[in-house]
Order: sequence, then structure tokens, then C-alpha cells
Amino acid sequence: MASSFLSKLMRILLCAFVLSVHSSFEKKVLVHGAQITVPVSSLSPSVNCTASTNNVNSTLKLVHKYGPCSQLFDGGPINHTQVLLEDIARVKWIQSKISNSISGTSDLKESKVSLPASYGPYRSSYVVTIGLGTPKKDLTLSFDTGSALTWTQCEPCISCYNQTEPIFNPSQSSSYANISCSALSCIQLPSGTDQLTGCSGSTCVYGAAYGDASFTAGFFATETLTLTPTDVITNFEFGCGENNQGTFEGFAGLLGLARDPVSIIEQSATQYGRYFSYCIPRSTGGTGYLTFGKGTVTSASLNFTPMVTIAQNPLFYGINITGISVGGNPLSIPSTVFSNAGAIIDSGTTFTYLPPTAYTALQSAFKEAMANYTSAPPALPLDTCYDFSLLSDITVPAITFSFDGSINVDLDVSGMFYVLDPSLVCLAFVANNADSDGVIYGNTQQRTFEVIYDVPGGQIGFGAQGCS
Ligand SMILES: *[C@@H]1O[C@H](CO)[C@@H](O)[C@H](O)[C@H]1NC(C)=O
Ligand SMILES: *[C@@H]1O[C@H](CO)[C@@H](O)[C@H](O)[C@H]1NC(C)=O
Ligand SMILES: *[C@@H]1O[C@H](CO)[C@@H](O)[C@H](O)[C@H]1NC(C)=O
Ligand SMILES: *[C@@H]1O[C@H](CO)[C@@H](O)[C@H](O)[C@H]1NC(C)=O
Ligand SMILES: *[C@@H]1O[C@H](CO)[C@@H](O)[C@H](O)[C@H]1NC(C)=O
Ligand SMILES: *[C@@H]1O[C@H](CO)[C@@H](O)[C@H](O)[C@H]1NC(C)=O
Ligand SMILES: *[C@@H]1O[C@H](CO)[C@@H](O)[C@H](O)[C@H]1NC(C)=O
Repeated sequence: MASSFLSKLMRILLCAFVLSVHSSFEKKVLVHGAQITVPVSSLSPSVNCTASTNNVNSTLKLVHKYGPCSQLFDGGPINHTQVLLEDIARVKWIQSKISNSISGTSDLKESKVSLPASYGPYRSSYVVTIGLGTPKKDLTLSFDTGSALTWTQCEPCISCYNQTEPIFNPSQSSSYANISCSALSCIQLPSGTDQLTGCSGSTCVYGAAYGDASFTAGFFATETLTLTPTDVITNFEFGCGENNQGTFEGFAGLLGLARDPVSIIEQSATQYGRYFSYCIPRSTGGTGYLTFGKGTVTSASLNFTPMVTIAQNPLFYGINITGISVGGNPLSIPSTVFSNAGAIIDSGTTFTYLPPTAYTALQSAFKEAMANYTSAPPALPLDTCYDFSLLSDITVPAITFSFDGSINVDLDVSGMFYVLDPSLVCLAFVANNADSDGVIYGNTQQRTFEVIYDVPGGQIGFGAQGCS
């Protein structure tokens, strides 16, 4: 009798618990067709580092370089000026590499935002920590689908910038080996670095430059790379940089995932079949992931679009944008606008950079749908901003990107805005200078999606709710 009463009570309590969880979830994300209602508080980045709810095995943790999960975190808020300037510098670098124009460079928004001359473009927004050598040393590297060579600073330094972790010392690793000048990988290397290789004795010497003053140079070598305890790549070719200049933020180097023989993707082809995926978390205080191989894909439903090769630079992952909808209404933009200079998907660029024709249409439809909200001054280059500080909830129009293959990707609300402050929340898109400038689909818009790079299949996939 008593036990049956107890089990009944348990069932009621459990039911109430399930209901309350359900209703708090419902309150968080209400999808009304073409509009989405969210609490304003859900837009603000979490103050503390929060773990991912999606901890699959064979996974590297992906964290924002300035967020509370980063080793560089100083307890203070993110310097938004820094983020905005870095993004423009990176975009200029990318556009100079994919531009159709003879000058090869775009002066993106220079009229609006003045960029300090010393700004290196080598600034990617997210970092991962890997292990290098035997015994392995942990190194935190910029995660970059826009470049191919993986490198880290190495002792003995001719010139090394400050980094938070001890600088890698090859003489303390039993698995380090130099690559010979005559090795095929040394001869092929310039395709991945855009720089000639050299020889020191018979040892291959690499260099890689990233616009203005940023570069790394040193020995091209092999090491044991430990991604996770069960994912180890032996004889991994990387740059052991003894001479490094530029503004690399205190991180040990870079993990290159672009399409080139020297990329980790090609080097691990037999293990992972040139297949990787990542998820950028909703908040700069969240933890996303980077994972290699097909078996690790977690999303229930995936939409794939063909991977495009940009003739000017086959390293980048090209993507074919066919349209944008706001509030369920397709914008009237000729689809050729997106293919003018080509479009790429990039892990390291924060915003999405659109042709002015597309941006103007997006901005105007968005402003119309948001007409009842208080606008705020621009935070250049972001020029469509709102003050939500006195509101508890907001209702925003859905923004949908259409890609070749007839797939539609409905952005998460965290993928629409850049939040400087609840009183300054900006549409996270930027207009290029000209319709002929390269289009970049940035990492804000990729938030919460599992983004899959199936290189042999020639396709890029998007899975909603890949991480939180
Ligand atoms: C963040 O962490 C600190 C220290 O652990 C704690 O005092 C604070 O309440 C946390 N803040 C939030 C918003 O969780
Ligand atoms: C994940 O890793 C743990 C510890 O290494 C192991 O026990 C578990 O079986 C793994 N799970 C999967 C799905 O591979
Ligand atoms: C933020 O970054 C900008 C650009 O690098 C710099 O000039 C400014 O001093 C930084 N602000 C703070 C508070 O660190
Ligand atoms: C590097 O760090 C050391 C020790 O913290 C400091 O003395 C030095 O000024 C730093 N150098 C640069 C270029 O920031
Ligand atoms: C790698 O080559 C450099 C330059 O020739 C040499 O100083 C270093 O000892 C070599 N390292 C190993 C492990 O062979
Ligand atoms: C703005 O508010 C008015 C009055 O509440 C309402 O009639 C109108 O539909 C709203 N406009 C938009 C775009 O939501
Ligand atoms: C982009 O997609 C459109 C529509 O599916 C197609 O007609 C066009 O050929 C594609 N362009 C490229 C470069 O793949």
C-alpha cells in the first residue's frame, strides 16, 4: 500500500518535472512559422565557461579564443573593437586570395573603418588544444579551414612571440624528425603555403606569410599528433617555427584544415577518409567540438550542398549560395550576385560578408520586420543595431540561407546577431564594397549547426542542433 502510494507520488513528481522542463524549453524557443521569440537574456554570452551538451568521443573541444573557456581569458568582457578589426583584416586577406579583380585586394569598408597598419590577418576566432610529440605536450592552436599548413612555435627560437603554453621543444621529443629537402612533401609544400621552401643542409625549411607583417618560418618536420587518447596521427607533417612574427594572440600556432596535401585532412585521409565536422557553440562562453571521420556525426537530420572549388584558390571550401529569406519571404536578389567572385564557408571569419546588392535587400527586409524595436547606433562595420535592454523577450524574423541542392538553413537566433551589450545588438552581416568581392559565410551564422565537410563526397552538410 505504502509502496504503491510512493511510486504514484514519484510518477506525479516525475511528470511535473518533465512538464516544467518542457515548458521552460518552450519558453526559450517559440517558433511561430516565420518568426522566432527568444528571451533577451539568451542572447548574452555566458559569463562562465559552459561545457558542451554534446560530448561525443574522438572530439576536440572548440572554444572562442577570447571567451571564458579560453586560456587567454582575463575575466573581463570581450574587446569588441578587437573582434571587429580582426574580422575585417582576415576578410581582406581572404578576399585578396579569391578576388577576380586584377588588383587582387579589396578595400573592404576602409572608408568606414580604419584598420591599424599592423593588423595581421592571421586571426581565427576559435581554438582547439592538441598534443604534440612524445611525451606529448599540449598546444592550443587556431582552428582554421582557410589555411592548410599546421605549425607551432619551436625552440630554439630565433624570434618567438609570447604564448601562454611552453614553446614546443623538439629536442625533448623522441618522435620528432626533420623532413629532407628532396622529399615529395617538401617539394609540394608551396601549394599549401604560397611560399617557396628552402634548404638548411639537407633539411626542408618552410615559410608561410599572412599578409602584412605576420609570418612563420622554420623546419618542416614530422611528429606524433595526438588529437584524443584514441586518435593519434604518426609522422604528421608540420611547421616547427623558430622565427615567428605577428599578432598571433598568445596561442601556440595553427591547425590547418584547408584543401591541400599538407592539410591535416589529407594527412589523416587513411584514418578519417577526409571527413570532418565541427560545431560552433551558441555563446562565446560555450564549448563546441571538432571531430574527424564519418562515424562521429551526431545530427539526426543533415542537409547537404555541393562543395565548390574556387578557381583562384582551390584551398578554400567554396559554397553555392542561391538565396536568402527573411521571415519566410525570399529576397529578390539575382542568384548570380553570389557567384560573381564565389563564396566560401570559413571557420575563422566572425560575420557573413555579402555582396552589397544582397546585403541591402537583407537589411531592408530585416529592418521592416523589426520596425517596432528601438534602433541603436552602428558598431562599424555592423550598421543595423538595436537596443533590447528594456525588453524581456524579442520576436525576430527567421533568416534562411538557401544553397545549391535546394537546401534551406534556418539560422539559430544566436547566428543572426552580434551582441556587444543588451543595448547594442547588431545584425551580424557586413556588406562587401562591390558585388565582385568574395562572399564569406562566417562562423556566427554557423552557430549551433554541426557543419560537415565531406571532401571525397564533394559536399558540405548542415545539421541543426549540433551543439548548444
Ligand atoms: C560564474 O562563476 C563564479 C565563480 O565560480 C560564480 O561565483 C558565479 O556565480 C558564476 N556566474 C554565473 C552567471 O554562473
Ligand atoms: C568513449 O570513450 C570511453 C572512454 O574511452 C569509452 O569507454 C566508450 O566506450 C567510448 N564510447 C564510444 C561511443 O565510442
Ligand atoms: C580593444 O582593442 C583595441 C584594438 O586593438 C585597442 O585599441 C583597445 O585599447 C582595446 N581596449 C581595451 C579595453 O583593451
Ligand atoms: C612577453 O612576456 C614577458 C613575460 O611575461 C614580458 O616580460 C614581455 O614583455 C612580453 N613580450 C611581449 C612582446 O609582449
Ligand atoms: C633538424 O635539422 C636542423 C638543421 O639542420 C638540425 O639543427 C637539427 O638537429 C635537426 N634535428 C633532428 C632531430 O634531426
Ligand atoms: C508594430 O506594432 C503595432 C502595434 O502593436 C502592430 O500593429 C504592428 O503589426 C507591429 N509591426 C511589426 C512589424 O511587428
Ligand atoms: C550554383 O547553384 C545553381 C542552382 O542550383 C546552379 O545553377 C549553378 O550552376 C551552381 N554554381 C556552381 C558554381 O556550382
